[in-house]
Amino acid sequence: MEEIDINQLMRPRKICVCRQVSESDIRKAIQSGATSLQEISLQTQASTNCGTCASAVDAILQDELKKLRKIV
Ligand code: FES
Repeated sequence: MEEIDINQLMRPRKICVCRQVSESDIRKAIQSGATSLQEISLQTQASTNCGTCASAVDAILQDELKKLRKIV
């Protein structure tokens, strides 16, 4: 039987490991008005250190903006 790490299941996946920012944090920033990577960085601190998460943050931004455009 495979052992399951319950902490790993409960913990939201971090998109920005340096600043410990989750996908949920990024989506909340967009839903509250952020429309660019820079604005997300200001609100969440994502992508303000090594920058390797920038493309993942941008992908979430594009996805969330697409969803918001469908709603409006
Ligand atoms: S992983 Fe996001 S700044 Fe390093």
